[in-house]
Amino acid sequence: MWVFTGGEYKELNLPESLLQPEQSYIIHHEVWNAHWTRIVENGMDYLHIPFVHRNSFGGEIGQPALEAKSIVEFQIQQTKQGAQVFNRFHNIPSGFSFEWFQPNLVVFKFDEMGIPLRIHQFSVPLNEHQTRYIFAMLMLGDIDPQSQTSIANEFIQPIVEDRLVIESQKGEIPATTEECNVPTDKATLLFRRWYHQTIQN
Ligand SMILES: [Fe+2]
Repeated sequence: MWVFTGGEYKELNLPESLLQPEQSYIIHHEVWNAHWTRIVENGMDYLHIPFVHRNSFGGEIGQPALEAKSIVEFQIQQTKQGAQVFNRFHNIPSGFSFEWFQPNLVVFKFDEMGIPLRIHQFSVPLNEHQTRYIFAMLMLGDIDPQSQTSIANEFIQPIVEDRLVIESQKGEIPATTEECNVPTDKATLLFRRWYHQTIQN
């Protein structure tokens, strides 16, 4: 069963990667003491990944680029139901990208950088202060169940490292920001704008 929490019903655009047989997924969920918009925003904050998560998947993205002295080419494309963000390097291949589907799904396409995994992160509000953070992890290729579990854990652990920081942010994402923004913040700013326009309307 699907519940669409995006307000006014439009055409429902589910990613193909959520429509695979049930046994292809590992599901993990936990409750965070945070507003759901904080968790979505964190998922779209690409820039923290190679730094905060440098000892895990962030290192797999950032280390080859550091060694090759790459310049990052960051692209953001608006889609019908959100945005798609690509991270490319000018001199080495890198297919890492992620996609936001309104309202509360962020999809990390690790498979595009050669890791057989695509993570769908849902931030489902329980109330103003609590969110159920759900990971639907699509395991790609022919991987035995034990390896699937260890790959999943390798990714879940670093992702939940963000919990302390996110739980320290009070309430929903602000409408305007006094923070200094850089061009790579475009994805999160797009989310903020969408959220506040949707709430106002
Ligand atoms: Fe993170």
